[in-house]
Amino acid sequence: MQNDPMILDTLILGAGAAGLMCAAHAGPGTLVVDHAKSPGEKIRISGGGRCNFTNMYAGPDNYLSANPHFCKSAMARYSQWDFIALVDKHRIAWHEKTLGQLFCDGSAKQIVAMLVEELKAAGADLWVQTSVEAVSREGDGFHVRLKRDGTPVTVHCRNLVLATGGKSIPKMGATGLAYDLAHQFDLPVTDTRPALVPFTFSDARFKDLSGVALPARLSNARKSFDEALLFTHRGLSGPSVLQLSSYWREGESVSANLIPEMDLFGALRDQRQKGGGKDLKTELARHLPARLVDHITPLWGLKGRLADQSDTALQALCEKLSAWELTPSGTEGYRTAEVTLGGIDTEALSSKDMQAKSVPGLFAIGEAVDVTGWLGGFNFQWAWASGHAAGKAI
Ligand code: FDA
Repeated sequence: MQNDPMILDTLILGAGAAGLMCAAHAGPGTLVVDHAKSPGEKIRISGGGRCNFTNMYAGPDNYLSANPHFCKSAMARYSQWDFIALVDKHRIAWHEKTLGQLFCDGSAKQIVAMLVEELKAAGADLWVQTSVEAVSREGDGFHVRLKRDGTPVTVHCRNLVLATGGKSIPKMGATGLAYDLAHQFDLPVTDTRPALVPFTFSDARFKDLSGVALPARLSNARKSFDEALLFTHRGLSGPSVLQLSSYWREGESVSANLIPEMDLFGALRDQRQKGGGKDLKTELARHLPARLVDHITPLWGLKGRLADQSDTALQALCEKLSAWELTPSGTEGYRTAEVTLGGIDTEALSSKDMQAKSVPGLFAIGEAVDVTGWLGGFNFQWAWASGHAAGKAI
């Protein structure tokens, strides 16, 4: 015999950043479900365990989307300052690390606890270890078959919110459920790909440099980022690389400037004038990591004393260091990508409340939507803003 369905106002699929925020604003009659053991797992591990929860300079220019204007409305109505006020209300201490990036002084777990407390205070409910078996449209609402701790539960709800995020880090429970359900309801989904992800090189050419980091400017024809670059066993990582990966496509080269704010030519010339008896390599290692100098010495045929180098030779060397053309063979993929680029097409959604234009009562928020932020707290800010927009409308 079929049990009567549980009647709800709103069911939110996914207790991540966006789903928790949405529930806190949707209030009584709302249930959030998640197949993970605990809510907000990505929040918990984010920012090295301290959660880079927003960015002081967050604005529409920090996001990629087929429609760059889409995020404006929700972000204006729930800004970084609103989230900071919430963090302050919960007496969570925080600090700016760099470039407007705000982190907890203590632990990212405080942000998860804060969101769960807000959700409970608003009268919403949270079920973890609950899988989504099937979703169908029934009249003006939705029928959803769930399995909670192995027990089947059927829910009927007026509003259904897709908040299951993107495909990055499947090991942490990421699935394509939001995209599958979007397809089921005929909502278009733009191409998705891993973003904020390290570059790989099939010949492992930087193996000897693994662990070397330095300030750099990484560019391609579309974008340029001035942040740290890190050589890894398999390729390149660090903030400048992760940022540019969102603007990179297979087969393209990137240009690395390893002396972005240094007048290396002037420094070497001055040193040469003072005598320049030391090896060029030794002089270079005063300005660049020694292992990097070891790597480029045979690669670029550097030899001799500084005194032996002509202006032209020094200039050519500095030009190479400021525009090192590299063609990654790929990226580390969803295994380590911080986010998924692309997602549910914003054309299908209202920018005011994230509701599907063609399916009243169906909402999509957070990373599942085709709005992808830069590294630095921007993705959480989008999760908070879009979750708030849907929650308020519900
Ligand atoms: P999110 O992924 O948070 O939540 C989705 C939820 O849905 C999860 O709880 C998942 O278990 C659940 N789910 C998925 N499929 C399901 C299914 N089939 N059934 C039931 N439940 C399902 N951003 C930032 O701004 N600052 C930072 O410091 C970081 N740091 C960072 C570190 C790492 C390692 C990663 C991977 C990512 C970040 N990010 C980040 C990105 C940020 O974590 C991400 O953009 C947001 O968590 C997106 O929020 P959502 O709520 O949309 O998805």
